[in-house]
Amino acid sequence: MTSAPELRAAPPASYDRLIRDCGLPRLEARALMERASERRREWLIAHGEDPVPEAIAAAFATLARRRRDGEPVAYLVGEREFHGHRFRVDPSVLIPRPDTETLVDWAIELAAPGARVLDLGTGSGAIAVSLALARTDLVVWATDRSAAALERARDNAARLLGTERGGSDAICWRLGAWWKAIAEDERFDVVVANPPYIDGDDPHLAQGDLRFEPREALTPGPDGMAAIAELVAGAPGYLAEGAWLLLEHGLEQGAAVRARLEEAGFAAVLTRRDAAGHERVSGGCWRGGAYRNVGSGGRERAISPDPAASAEAVAATASGGTRLTAPTSHS
Ligand SMILES: C[S@@+](CC[C@H](N)C(=O)[O-])C[C@H]1O[C@@H](n2cnc3c(N)ncnc32)[C@H](O)[C@@H]1O
Repeated sequence: MTSAPELRAAPPASYDRLIRDCGLPRLEARALMERASERRREWLIAHGEDPVPEAIAAAFATLARRRRDGEPVAYLVGEREFHGHRFRVDPSVLIPRPDTETLVDWAIELAAPGARVLDLGTGSGAIAVSLALARTDLVVWATDRSAAALERARDNAARLLGTERGGSDAICWRLGAWWKAIAEDERFDVVVANPPYIDGDDPHLAQGDLRFEPREALTPGPDGMAAIAELVAGAPGYLAEGAWLLLEHGLEQGAAVRARLEEAGFAAVLTRRDAAGHERVSGGCWRGGAYRNVGSGGRERAISPDPAASAEAVAATASGGTRLTAPTSHS
């Protein structure tokens, strides 16, 4: 006959134990537990020995299994931090990468007060919303070909910018393919883009997180440079004189992007490295852009890079080198 103590169900596992025993790195497991329990990290640390309610344990088990099957943590928890802000993400948008903060920081340095800034292919809105948060004086525009991505970006803007800063209305949103989304008479002072730049047959597309991200956010097709080429070729029609075009690219594409910018007539062509030391963002200054006709008052140039610094940058690039810092017109 079975004795009474053996009939008793096992006590529920603690938070610490589920996190430790789920087969995932601790940081990932903790993030999934935060999501399953709707508790913050500090609470989980303080209550690590508490028994986990059944519904939370079941929700955590499902998330942990999906993660072991490869789904990105950001999609499972529904958010990713970028430039100090928590952006909501789902499989309709690329998960923002820390590398892209290099692009945001550079744009912030270059944009003069009141500058018109355009983010092409905004995805979650990570770049555009970060710019609007960092610089309330900027006039920020954002586009994407994906309606679902634009919806996600608007939602992030509404939440992060808040009503006091105009919410999603603080940014001008446009749906459409690259420059086609923008009316022909619009001109910008800084244009940024993190376009898809992976070759369509790159085996990395079938590995890791990339398997779960939108393919059109990762690759423009067989030629990884195709979107960058289209952006560079179309840019002059939309840039004010002295405007900057900044493009994120793959770590081996720096030389090719600089060459495209120079062939298209950009000056002061530069590349910046990301935190890991990889060439990550290249840009150039458009000297031949048309002024927008704004009536008798004319228009002040929003960007005025230091010519000496620009010349130095051109020299550095021409000799095969790349600058790690750009001339700035705003500090
Ligand atoms: C690499 S993701 C960048 C997303 C976001 N800017 C970021 O940095 O996290 C590229 C974005 O470009 C958009 N895209 C791809 N092809 C496009 C096209 N032809 N016209 C406009 N947007 C496009 C994708 O939908 C995607 O949101």
